[in-house]
Amino acid sequence: MVAGPLATTVGPLALQNPVLAASGTFGYGDAFGSFFPLDILGGFVTKTLFAAPRDGNPAPRIVETSAGMLNSIGLANVGWGAFVRDKAPAVNAARGSARLIVNIAGNAPEEYQALAAAVEADRAAAGCDAIEVNVSCPNVREGGTHIGCDLTAFRAVVRGVRAETTLPVFVKLSPNVADVVPFAACAADEGADGVSLINTLYGMRIDTRTGRPVLGTGSGGLSGPAILPVGIHWVYRVRAALPDLPILAIGGIVTWRDALEYLMAGAQAIQVGTAAFVNPHAAPEILAGLARYCATRGTTIAALSGAAHRSAPGAGQPAEPPVWTG
Ligand code: FUM
Repeated sequence: MVAGPLATTVGPLALQNPVLAASGTFGYGDAFGSFFPLDILGGFVTKTLFAAPRDGNPAPRIVETSAGMLNSIGLANVGWGAFVRDKAPAVNAARGSARLIVNIAGNAPEEYQALAAAVEADRAAAGCDAIEVNVSCPNVREGGTHIGCDLTAFRAVVRGVRAETTLPVFVKLSPNVADVVPFAACAADEGADGVSLINTLYGMRIDTRTGRPVLGTGSGGLSGPAILPVGIHWVYRVRAALPDLPILAIGGIVTWRDALEYLMAGAQAIQVGTAAFVNPHAAPEILAGLARYCATRGTTIAALSGAAHRSAPGAGQPAEPPVWTG
């Protein structure tokens, strides 16, 4: 049971506060212990795990951009078995009430389903509280956005994972589609407990000395402050279309005000990712800022979630509905 102004629930998952560390930026929960205690977070999401270990893509795998970074890691990971055996015990000893969400993927719907079955079988040993399903990595030849941008394959993955586990399931959505809402609706139709959005946007940089793309794979996924408005847009749109579908918001959060925007747009909790590479204390600083805001305003995270849909700030008037061109 969690309570207090910072407590929030994302579907069936109760969190002591709304600040989580995002997948791919926090290792397996073992990477930031020298910077801050793990147990202060609402939770954290592991790097994407496959059933077996993967080496990932050829270097260079990361390049900075003027307002963020491009990555093409290629879902390098230790594999599910090694996570359960080598990582989970120490992480579970350190995390207190912070929630452990395991992010999973495969190359095809059957692989996702088989891994979900393994997670369910190992859930006590892994100590995990929920699953995040990665169908939105832009850096892989199979799986990733090939599934997350194709509604038929997407549906098959969510259905297969849901069939294998009673853990809360959150599906991580790609912004590399014309409209994210049908994917969120499909996740809900197939029994997902919520959605995480957004993953990275396709991007590329060219090395002007060589005339070649900088990244080993050519293109990668853009993250960081540049994508904040894209994420806010899609969180707002998903919340407007599917008001009962819980949302974990991700994308370009650097400050507590960024986090607040996402909450007001419709999220129940937020994930901090790329900012941690610049400032390892970003997540606790964002949490402190939200705590100050709630205390000063006498409000709660639960009350703030979706505020942008309800009234004009300060006026107590119904908001004018935004006009969409798309
Ligand atoms: O390349 C990567 O490992 C990125 C993963 C993702 O964006 O989901």
